Amino acid sequence: MTQSVAMTINGRRREDHVEPRLLLVHYLREVAGLTGTHIACDTSQCGACTVLIDGEAVKSCSVFTVQADGRQVTTIEGLAEDGVLHPIQQAFWNEHGLQCGFCTPGFIMAAAYLLRQNPSPTDEEIERGLEGNLCRCTGYENIQEGCPLRVPGDEPRGCRADGAAGRIGCGSGGGLAMAVTSMIGARIQRREDPKLITGHGNFIDDVNLVNMAHMSVVRSPHAHARIRSIDTSAAMASKGVVAVLTAADFKPVIGGPLPVTNSFVADKKQVPEQFPIAADEVAYAGEPVAVVVADDRYLADDAAQLVVVDYEPLPAVMDIEKADGAGQSPGEERSPRQHRLGCGVSRR
Ligand code: FES
Ligand code: FES
Repeated sequence: MTQSVAMTINGRRREDHVEPRLLLVHYLREVAGLTGTHIACDTSQCGACTVLIDGEAVKSCSVFTVQADGRQVTTIEGLAEDGVLHPIQQAFWNEHGLQCGFCTPGFIMAAAYLLRQNPSPTDEEIERGLEGNLCRCTGYENIQEGCPLRVPGDEPRGCRADGAAGRIGCGSGGGLAMAVTSMIGARIQRREDPKLITGHGNFIDDVNLVNMAHMSVVRSPHAHARIRSIDTSAAMASKGVVAVLTAADFKPVIGGPLPVTNSFVADKKQVPEQFPIAADEVAYAGEPVAVVVADDRYLADDAAQLVVVDYEPLPAVMDIEKADGAGQSPGEERSPRQHRLGCGVSRR
């Protein structure tokens, strides 16, 4: 059963027939082809999917497409006007407010909304206004302090969204730009940023192949637990399912932790081991315990609900002091994996 919807996206009206359960983020990305709106979580916490609906910032993974019927939707692709960057896009570019750029469209949309509500926010108000957005690269300093968020409209709007003018004098930070003959000691703007701040980056999740299968991940609801058993039979029998995989299927291929290292950590022993999927124990809430591959993402999600995991909950380390051993309560059980993961937890 489908339902007809009509909405205006970035000034263009479109009509479609959609499943009532289709999330707006999937509609924007897969039906409208606007892949600048990203998905970085399945718990509505990251904010990478933020768009404006009738001018209000909304996480589009928490809204059904049918709820946007008759509304005006603005995505990151619609923020630049006539090829000229929005001041917030310009500010992110000038002040290096992005690294990989994956979270950036969500941050920019949330910042645009914040400044529309409050043109002169304090540091605290900026922090509160952007608290629904997470950055895995952890570039918060540049986003919150570096961006000239407090002076919207003061930034030059002379840079083209395609970055063409980026080398001939646009960029406001400190007044220096790429036009200088020597780059030594000068502020320079990254050449890859224009596509990332306008939603035209090309990430792996943006690749859409014909007959592509989709994966849904079954995650632990427990911060620490032993896995007694996993029953995948009902999921395997579910409509459209291609495969259901657990650690037992990964073992012959990847026997232990992934070969991940972090060159910034001097003490390599502190780098948490990264397992592709939990085997006998989960060491954090959200750790993958099974994956379901199916013909489409909703069939995969349906089948993932049918995976039955029998957990034995264990005491969990919930703060950094306990993770480093200083404040461990007598008798508190703590596995080596949870200890190491706890040491890697950031405070934000
Ligand atoms: S994908 Fe919407 S909040 Fe993370
Ligand atoms: S810039 Fe990489 S996730 Fe934020």
